[in-house]
Amino acid sequence: MLEVSHLNFAYHKQPILHDLTFTVATDEIVGLVAPNGTGKSTLLKNLVGLLTPASGTISLNGHDSRQDRTAFLQNLFFLEDNRNLYEHLTAREQIIYVQQMWRSGVDVDHIIDLLNMGGYKNKRISKMSLGMRQHVLLATYLAANTPLMLFDEPLNGLDPTSMQLFTQIFTQLRAQGHGIIMSSHSVENVTAMTDRTFFLKQGQLTVCNTGDIDLLAKYNEMFEVKALGPEFKL
Ligand SMILES: Nc1ncnc2c1ncn2[C@@H]1O[C@H](COP(=O)(O)OP(=O)(O)OP(=O)(O)O)[C@@H](O)[C@H]1O
Ligand SMILES: [Mg+2]
Repeated sequence: MLEVSHLNFAYHKQPILHDLTFTVATDEIVGLVAPNGTGKSTLLKNLVGLLTPASGTISLNGHDSRQDRTAFLQNLFFLEDNRNLYEHLTAREQIIYVQQMWRSGVDVDHIIDLLNMGGYKNKRISKMSLGMRQHVLLATYLAANTPLMLFDEPLNGLDPTSMQLFTQIFTQLRAQGHGIIMSSHSVENVTAMTDRTFFLKQGQLTVCNTGDIDLLAKYNEMFEVKALGPEFKL
């Protein structure tokens, strides 16, 4: 269980996260939804310590993020973006690297098969397309095999086939006792697989059970999406 209590964060004087308190179980998928520039990435970075909260506490499976930092970090995985992969490594080398760092013992070649990466497992990251990089990124999460996985826009740049594969993998991970927080721009994707949705607005969270609401209607209501009027002209 991830337990966050009274978390605050500001960039200089601009408050981004205001007194956030929430929990995430290690067998649920939470969608983090908000418009561009609201603070989704900032929240994920605060959870892992890439940014330091001004105040508040975070613990994971009883390990406090400050007092018990090593155990806390061993329980989660977050690789912000496919630009954080090592460009000079091959896909397979990158996956082995993470598997060894997290001492997970997961079978690397099984991950490669699962994600249909056989055709490019020996290609360097620097030579890969966006979709291939997204597969390698997901593969690193499977290689770490941690109770909690934090994803920032994991579905960006995927074709419909890969989207379905990723959705199946996320739901399998949940079934196997992994907790997932994923930010997403796409309300459709969040609807398809999340148990709860966290809407972030003006630094605060509105939490909904995904199945109970029309997510797009709720999004439009919360973030006042306006139709483009006839006055639009180039
Ligand atoms: N390094 C930084 N220094 C100062 N302000 C920053 C910095 N990084 C982000 N911000 C500001 O914090 C706010 C939240 O940014 P963040 O990247 O968390 O948003 P986001 O919800 O992830 O957006 P997107 O959907 O575009 O990825 C924005 O106003 C942004 O300008
Ligand atoms: Mg972001």
